[in-house]
Amino acid sequence: MTWGITLSVSQLLQKPKPVAILKSVCFVAKSSEILAIVGPSGTGKSTLLRIISGRVKDEDYNPKSVSINDHQITSPAQLRKICGFVAQEDNLLPLLTVKETLMFTAKFRLKGIDAKERVESLMQELGLLHVSDSYVGDEENRGISGGERKRVSTGVDMIHDPPILLLDEPTSGLDSTSALQVIELLSIMAKSKQRTVLLSIHQPSYRILHHISNFLILSHGSVVHNGSIELLEETIGNLGMQIPLQLNALEFAMEVIKTLEDSYSRSTSDHHPKPSCYRKQRTMLLPFIARNRNRQRST
Ligand SMILES: Nc1ncnc2c1ncn2[C@@H]1O[C@H](COP(=O)(O)OP(=O)(O)OP(=O)(O)O)[C@@H](O)[C@H]1O
Ligand SMILES: [Mg+2]
Repeated sequence: MTWGITLSVSQLLQKPKPVAILKSVCFVAKSSEILAIVGPSGTGKSTLLRIISGRVKDEDYNPKSVSINDHQITSPAQLRKICGFVAQEDNLLPLLTVKETLMFTAKFRLKGIDAKERVESLMQELGLLHVSDSYVGDEENRGISGGERKRVSTGVDMIHDPPILLLDEPTSGLDSTSALQVIELLSIMAKSKQRTVLLSIHQPSYRILHHISNFLILSHGSVVHNGSIELLEETIGNLGMQIPLQLNALEFAMEVIKTLEDSYSRSTSDHHPKPSCYRKQRTMLLPFIARNRNRQRST
């Protein structure tokens, strides 16, 4: 098989063109509560979390792009101080025990704080004391369970006790019980120290929904809903739509968004004019959903 790839040096040296992934995203996340970021794949959930956790290069950061409580955050370093970020894929070392992993991070990141004491209290908070001397492990050498592993990586990123904790898909790859345990733990952690927890999640189960106070629904990088599930139900009801019995409001909203996004991509690939609502910055997609449904019914 022959692969023919033509790429000139000038092409390689060219800076990639900027891509607009998020569009004026504005939302409220309160302390002691969990805010879940949901939306179809590729909608910008991880990008949003990476930006607000300060995981961007200094030269790529726009000092006017992020403000918290009306204070502009001028550098990613400021964000890194106040936000702990747990990425979807961890990079834990398999041959270290849970305690060694946390001690290593504590000694590296904490200055003037008793690392041993901090690690003990963190393991207690994360329910990891019973596996403190177990190896983290990997695919080849089995160690702690998936849920415990997620809690260890959470510990690594909150060793400095940040007031804001951001987690990218903390329940992905876990069975429903372990996923619920992780969310329950995060809910307790949010309440116990008035932390603000933001996490991205796909299809939260009914029991997980109870631990999440507010939802930020994104579609193509724009906010379509920011508020409680009750508010979402109310909005859907006010639009004259009925949520099928077998679905919750979030699942229903996601289905409608997915359908609209698919019909939008079809219409743009057919060179049809783009629906104006996709161009506009908006705070609620649902009125748009209703308009489109009516339009679809009438066509
Ligand atoms: N550095 C980058 N360069 C170019 N495109 C990017 C870059 N980072 C993200 N994207 C694009 O931006 C969009 C949003 O990506 P992102 O990873 O934030 O989506 P997501 O909502 O987290 O999706 P998923 O649910 O699949 O994890 C995607 O279309 C992705 O391909
Ligand atoms: Mg993602």
